[in-house]
Amino acid sequence: MIMVNNWRHVVECKGGSVVLHLAEIKVCTKSKKEDCRDCSSAARLEQLCSDLAWLVACRLGLDNYEGCGAETGSGSSDTAREFKEIVWGIMEEAGKPNLGDYFPVLRKLDPQGIRRRFANYFMRMLGFIGSVVNERLESRKAHDYVTSNDMLDTLINISQEKTEEDMNNSQVVDHLFLVLFAAGIDTTSATLEWAMAELLHNPNSLSKAQEELDQMIGKGKPIEESDIARLPYLQAIIKETFWLHPAVPLLLPRKAEIDVEIGGYIVPKGAQVLVNVWAIGRDPGIWDNPDSFIPERFLDNQIDVMAKTFELIPFGGGRRICPGLPLAMRMLHLMLRSLINCFDWKLEDGVVPETMNMEDKFGLTLQMAQPLIAQPLLREL
Ligand code: HEM
Repeated sequence: MIMVNNWRHVVECKGGSVVLHLAEIKVCTKSKKEDCRDCSSAARLEQLCSDLAWLVACRLGLDNYEGCGAETGSGSSDTAREFKEIVWGIMEEAGKPNLGDYFPVLRKLDPQGIRRRFANYFMRMLGFIGSVVNERLESRKAHDYVTSNDMLDTLINISQEKTEEDMNNSQVVDHLFLVLFAAGIDTTSATLEWAMAELLHNPNSLSKAQEELDQMIGKGKPIEESDIARLPYLQAIIKETFWLHPAVPLLLPRKAEIDVEIGGYIVPKGAQVLVNVWAIGRDPGIWDNPDSFIPERFLDNQIDVMAKTFELIPFGGGRRICPGLPLAMRMLHLMLRSLINCFDWKLEDGVVPETMNMEDKFGLTLQMAQPLIAQPLLREL
């Protein structure tokens, strides 16, 4: 696995009385919208979480490539917007039931146009990535080029060192790079938004998490990756969020290699198998209060997301387990911690915890049916 070490600088709190920069995203802390000329007072958490995940991916992958919008701190340059739109388009198409999957004879006809739109999105995405890679290859030719150690440089270095055919192909770099953005951003931002939604829906859990942070780290203190191990309640919140809202609810499809009997049913050789992780977590026959947000269920036990014991498998398992797992886990803990350690959050438009809409919207990734909107209030230090 390729490790990139400079990403931890992305998530840090920079204090300020009016506008607080969190991972370079501006969050206004003024209580009245009219007091602030620059931004609206309420944050659309969906946007904030997605910008945050996007900026982390950009910092990691492209060392703040200017098209990412990181230079403005908004994560919303034209390139960034277009790219995010493509990723969302891919997720939406991938989540739609495709008649061609059920009636192979229709596959070529593509009656819903899903394959056609998919191909179009991928072409656009590869076009963008190809131009970024070429730009980097050109810069690297300069004699005074200093390697930035971001993911792109790392991949190019590997591809130039390797003699095997499969790595010595510029397309491999493009496709590997595409993965960081396509597979890593939507999943991470949806999980972060759900975690925030559950904490606002369950203020006791939020208070407990903030208490733990205050005691172990200190209010508004900068984020260190090494702190995560000292925050069992925060870890339990992330696990509970995965439990109730697994970002990829059906994992990736599998195919039975042989006839298998499971629970009295025969799964015939060649059958496509979808693993419904969402339903596994919600089974009242197995779990107490499966629909309630109770992070405590993950305290004092060894259940984790590595799929060794299979209770909690939001990243899948076996040979196809998500390769981004270590990165995603660290990103999530650091981002969530930044959001709740620096701010208190106030729901908008008369919504109170009891009336929040916590419905899921199913696609390839599991999103909130109604985006979360809340106002960040700078926590007193
Ligand atoms: C909250 C964050 C994430 C979640 C919940 C998640 C979940 C998953 C799941 C469930 C799978 C399918 C595994 C299976 O079917 O067994 C998967 C595959 C994958 N994930 Fe993630 N992922 C996340 C973040 C990331 C990140 C940050 C990256 C890259 C940097 C990434 C890269 C991939 C790739 C490349 C695959 C495909 C592996 C294959 O085809 O076998 N993921 N992910």
